[in-house]
Amino acid sequence: MRTVRVEASSAYDVLIGPGLLGECGARIAKVIAPCTAALVSDSNVAPLYAARVRESLETAGFRVAEFRFPAGERSKNLEVWAETVSFLAENRLGRGDFVAALGGGVTGDLAGFAASAYQRGIRCVQLPTTLLSAVDSSVGGKTAVDLPQGKNLVGSFHQPSLVLCDTDTLATLPDVQLRSGCAEAIKCAVLSSEELFARMETVPIPDMLEDTITACVEYKRGVVARDEFDTGERAFLNLGHTVGHAVEKCGGYALTHGEAVAVGLAVVTRAAAARGICSPRAAERIVALLEKTGLPVTTDIGATELFEAALSDKKRRGDSIRLILPEEIGRCRIETVPAADLIGWMRDGGVR
Ligand code: GLY
Repeated sequence: MRTVRVEASSAYDVLIGPGLLGECGARIAKVIAPCTAALVSDSNVAPLYAARVRESLETAGFRVAEFRFPAGERSKNLEVWAETVSFLAENRLGRGDFVAALGGGVTGDLAGFAASAYQRGIRCVQLPTTLLSAVDSSVGGKTAVDLPQGKNLVGSFHQPSLVLCDTDTLATLPDVQLRSGCAEAIKCAVLSSEELFARMETVPIPDMLEDTITACVEYKRGVVARDEFDTGERAFLNLGHTVGHAVEKCGGYALTHGEAVAVGLAVVTRAAAARGICSPRAAERIVALLEKTGLPVTTDIGATELFEAALSDKKRRGDSIRLILPEEIGRCRIETVPAADLIGWMRDGGVR
């Protein structure tokens, strides 16, 4: 098992390894005294793991109240959020109690945001069960739900008290979910490490999950420690996301978040290469690794439609937009460009 310590406004451990859900009660009891746990999970994950988590929590002396919501990005909205906080109130959770978010990115974001607002903030433990939430969303304290106008438009920063990433849960992930997580892991390697990227080129990511998750969390730990509230360096983590979020939204969420990020990463990489910012060799390697991992690197959605969607994204600042652009593997730059220029960037990136 690996442990990564995150030093944000509050400090916490991220544990990565097999068997952690079955021992979550004892692990959580080391940081939270016995109290009530609201176990939040979706209709896919609850049948697989909720009983195991409940039993472990109860054995460790916690009272458990379970809340389930329909699986899918479409549940990440204010209505389901309101149901979640109402559930906390109905079950009389107090300020000493906590929310356990069991599942992928949607669950972590939704449950984390409910914990951050209920009674002005109660504790949250993240129990990621997807690769995507393990390498990215369960760590760093970003919580949110979507609005019809765009993704993650209402939320907060609320650091978890503990993150337990049970790598056994990843063994049963559908391929599409595994690939989705691989996209965020590749993004992380492009941002941070030629060595990690080169390893991914040689060994398929699913064959080295514990190492990959640990490397991504190690990288993110540093970024979050330096820029917890996303006023500078943390923007790098949005590599591929400006176009990716637009692809996700315009496609009616038919692609997973990670697949859409893969398209976004390929588009900005090609555009950066076309404009002489990214070395041709690095661009070739990034697109090739995405393809080799089974991820999409193009979209049929037109640049005009994506542009409209991207403008409602919160990554836009007034009339400008921040693009994260690869220069080499392990080195990216941020460019603030007029929002109107985004269409040209997307066309250079191969969008029709
Ligand atoms: N997922 C991007 C961030 O945590 O900032």
